[in-house]
Amino acid sequence: MTLLGGVDIGGTKCAISIGQARDGNIEVIQKMQFPTPPTPEAAIDRIGETMERLLADERRGETIGAIGISCGGPLNSKSGLILSPPNLPLWDRIDCVTPLRDSFGVPVALQNDANACALAEWKWGAGRGTRNMVFLTFGTGMGAGLILDGRLYTGTNDMAGEVGHIRLAEDGPIGFGKAGSFEGFCSGGGIAGLARTEAEKAIRSGSAPSFCTGLEQLDAITAKSVGEAAERGDDLALHIYRTVGRKLGRGLALLVDLLNPEMIVIGSIYGRQRSILEPIALEELRNEALSISVEACRIVPAGLGEQVGDLAGLSVALNVLEA
Ligand code: BGC
Ligand code: NA
Repeated sequence: MTLLGGVDIGGTKCAISIGQARDGNIEVIQKMQFPTPPTPEAAIDRIGETMERLLADERRGETIGAIGISCGGPLNSKSGLILSPPNLPLWDRIDCVTPLRDSFGVPVALQNDANACALAEWKWGAGRGTRNMVFLTFGTGMGAGLILDGRLYTGTNDMAGEVGHIRLAEDGPIGFGKAGSFEGFCSGGGIAGLARTEAEKAIRSGSAPSFCTGLEQLDAITAKSVGEAAERGDDLALHIYRTVGRKLGRGLALLVDLLNPEMIVIGSIYGRQRSILEPIALEELRNEALSISVEACRIVPAGLGEQVGDLAGLSVALNVLEA
């Protein structure tokens, strides 16, 4: 049995895992994470050392068949270069594939994190058995992974699915350097930004929301704190999450009209705040997209839940072996 190596490089942490795929399932055998080191060089060294340590602990004498790396874009999977993503600004044209290939002597592939999560959900999660499926990461950033006609579609130079950049409104919270973008409304940073603007207005007019009672607390607002307030029934928090839900519906409608997928799987924040987001997003979707396409498409939270990120690198490794 061949082992798979998975690497997930994030803005705050890196996660390394060793897994084994069997009969359409994945078992994570070893896992370790550490804060992302300050420089790409240090991070790549640490990733290699950690992978080696995990493999040395694997006492069944099995060998690794491929390594998959998942990282937020922009990046180029063909050249293996990470192209200074917003969360990793120092990673400017950084090759993380060659060093790992040289150390381990196995195929190593790099993939956009949303694409990698799409592969994981398709192979092991909610999207099992589908041929046309979209995965939306709705977390720190917004991005899509597209499974079309039974394979991952990455576009001419790997930018397919960079839907966070699409403008959904003339104005609004900033995401991907653009006000009113899909990432502006549908990401952790975007929700916090929208909440800051709205909370400041409310405080100045004498009606502070429960998630931020004074101007000095504005910076501490997070998507999570607003989500918890929405669950408690805070009016402003509910208003914010409804705005986000409507914009999510707009984004879903674009994807449904463009791609006619049978399923759209949504991760992270959608799963946590589904009871508020889902009815509004689905209503907007039904109003905006062709009904014959809407009827053919199921909108579901990530089947692998918050675990999808841990399996992303492993799914890229398996994809290499299956190619
Ligand atoms: C990046 C995407 C990524 C997404 C989620 C966006 O800001 O542009 O490539 O998939 O964040 O990390
Ligand atoms: Na993508």
